[in-house]
Amino acid sequence: MRRKLAAGNWKMNGIGADLAEFEALARAHPRPDCEILICPPASLLHRAAEAASDTPIAVGGQDCHSEAKGAHTGDISAAMLRDAGASHVILGHSERRADHDERSEDVRAKARAAISEGLTAIICLGESLAEREAANTLDIIAGQMSSSIPDMVTGENLVIAYEPVWAIGTGKVPTLEQIGEVHDSIRAMLEARFGQDIGGAVRLLYGGSVKPSNADEIFAVSNVDGALVGGASLKAADFSGIICALENS
Ligand code: PGA
Repeated sequence: MRRKLAAGNWKMNGIGADLAEFEALARAHPRPDCEILICPPASLLHRAAEAASDTPIAVGGQDCHSEAKGAHTGDISAAMLRDAGASHVILGHSERRADHDERSEDVRAKARAAISEGLTAIICLGESLAEREAANTLDIIAGQMSSSIPDMVTGENLVIAYEPVWAIGTGKVPTLEQIGEVHDSIRAMLEARFGQDIGGAVRLLYGGSVKPSNADEIFAVSNVDGALVGGASLKAADFSGIICALENS
């Protein structure tokens, strides 16, 4: 049985005052039936980990460098994330692929570093609108999978988030059939590469405009084990609605 995961990606949002959302979330979900993760900006990570201690909420980073330390101004290593209290890290988000020219090979190197440090890597994949319209989605996902995912995978240390680029922050969501088709094909590729035990244990999240109002139907799709949520994770009231939908799925 895969434990369901509701993961929030705060992106470049959040200052100290927003940690009140952690308290509200923990109050609303003292004993959740799923894992809850929030990935705040790096500047808040340590305080977020303190706010989340003694609650079921885990905290994670939004990126890490592939090297352990060194002359990389502005970057953060997996060990640093871990030291600040993170248990997970999002890697290869499409905003990083676009804004920082991250290629799948970079994502794989980062995932190696994160997993070696004991973090769970949440690797993001997804097609652009042009790729979807050209009916290339499954090929694009297959290419991103084989180049972004390192070999050292156990069922536990990897989570994959399918996030169509055109659905992120736009209010547009693929059809349930489209989500199911991609998730089933990711599962099949994982099982082919890592075997059924490991490939069957990796959790697959859907991400892109998930809201309390569409979460129920998305969580009913096969091989959807949770969500990676941007905008609707910033306020406990919204994220809580998504968590409830996941608990009830
Ligand atoms: P969104 O972002 O929920 O605001 O669409 C999702 C993401 O980028 O992870």
